[in-house]
Amino acid sequence: MSNVRHASGGSAPASTRGSAVDGGTGFDTGNPDGKRDGSPHTPRRAGDPAALRRLRDYDYTNFYFGAGTDPFGILEPFGEWWKDAEFGGGYYLYSLPMGSAPSTRVAIGDPKTRETHHGLINFASYNYLGLSYRPEVIEAVCEAVREYGAGASGSPVLSGSMDLHKRLQKEVADFKGKEAAIVFPTGYSANLGVISGLMRPGDLIVADRLSHASIVDGMILSKATSRFFRHNDAADLDRKLRGFGGKKLVIVEGVYSMDGDVADLPEIVEVCRRHSARLLVDEAHSTFVYGANGRGVAEHFGLDDEVDIHLGTFSKSLGGLGGFVAGRKELIYYLRGFARARVFSCALPPGVVAGLLKALEIAAGEPELRERLWDNARYMHGLLREAEVDVGDSTSQVISIMIGDDAGIFRIAEDLLHEGVYINPIRYPAVGKHKSRFRMSISAAHTRADLREGAEIITSVLRKHGKCP
Ligand SMILES: Cc1ncc(COP(=O)(O)O)c(C=O)c1O
Repeated sequence: MSNVRHASGGSAPASTRGSAVDGGTGFDTGNPDGKRDGSPHTPRRAGDPAALRRLRDYDYTNFYFGAGTDPFGILEPFGEWWKDAEFGGGYYLYSLPMGSAPSTRVAIGDPKTRETHHGLINFASYNYLGLSYRPEVIEAVCEAVREYGAGASGSPVLSGSMDLHKRLQKEVADFKGKEAAIVFPTGYSANLGVISGLMRPGDLIVADRLSHASIVDGMILSKATSRFFRHNDAADLDRKLRGFGGKKLVIVEGVYSMDGDVADLPEIVEVCRRHSARLLVDEAHSTFVYGANGRGVAEHFGLDDEVDIHLGTFSKSLGGLGGFVAGRKELIYYLRGFARARVFSCALPPGVVAGLLKALEIAAGEPELRERLWDNARYMHGLLREAEVDVGDSTSQVISIMIGDDAGIFRIAEDLLHEGVYINPIRYPAVGKHKSRFRMSISAAHTRADLREGAEIITSVLRKHGKCP
């Protein structure tokens, strides 16, 4: 194991998601059993429970650092571990091939047994309004591909901006009630682009410690001083902003993607105002879900005008791809030149953009979809509460089922798959160590029968594993 050098645990908060801001070292690679010199792959003895536990306890992040002079030096010990971890440790449960649309029932390939599980109840896809497979959306995509071809073939600042892209930006700005909007290839690059496009070394960025990896990576890229405040704790945000005289940006999410709880925006806005800090709200999971018009959590709290930068993605409620930033027009014009994540990347394919335009039209024109989503989310919360399943702080269509046991979650996930439910295990670094959970997405398209059957399967599997009474 001479090639693996464990990190000292990193200085980033353990619960900060994605690659942590810890002076550029990246992941907090804290070893779960506290040892620094252990080889994650030493024992290969079948049936050795300690060996199996180690396989499951170790994860990618244990291979972040490697000793020696060859960047490839880490690959051999990693490959050794991976050989066992893939099927022995449960990692095969990630990236399972889906053989159908991400609808309420899906076909999932099982590389371990080589079977395909058909008709699984799907709680893993973001398709909150079921729009990715709506016939009108599919038709709009096909038509645009026939007219414009498969790709944009250029950066949006050069040849890649088609009339469709311009229309999408205008429609998004109108939908959000803002002066202008700018579209990015992904939600990830929207955060990277806006944060690093605006903030400079010597400035201060303070983000919620449960911020998505794209926010954390944008902070790293900006080289501004980065701090994290305790999750949803406005008093701690106040402390982190105190005594800094320069440019300040605060970043929160509308709905937190791994916890399903909502930002305490009224308190956060008040603190930002007091410190003259600008506020960015990432509404990836709240756009088209919260607010009278579906604009998000800012609208829900009546604070739309208090937020300086409105960010969202098209990959969640709209079931497509891409991200956007909306706000005052000078901000958007500035980002056209300074958001390098957009300038130096190809524009979205025209088919995707046409699908988004149609999906946006449907989402804005059919508020009943949002009502159905909320009915379904409340119904599922009720079923899980009745069964005394621990859903943490979630109150939205994103429901976390808290497991805690980083090793055991794979066994539970496998049982769920075999019993008929597709739902992803979430582990470090997406959440903190020992905070493993299932992240459940409810869709407007789920039927009551889907939800009832899904809840029954989930509770009976959790019961079997001692995770609910
Ligand atoms: C809060 C948040 N922001 C940004 C993103 C990135 O969005 P996308 O997947 O569209 O790139 C995600 C994705 O899950 C997210 O949860």
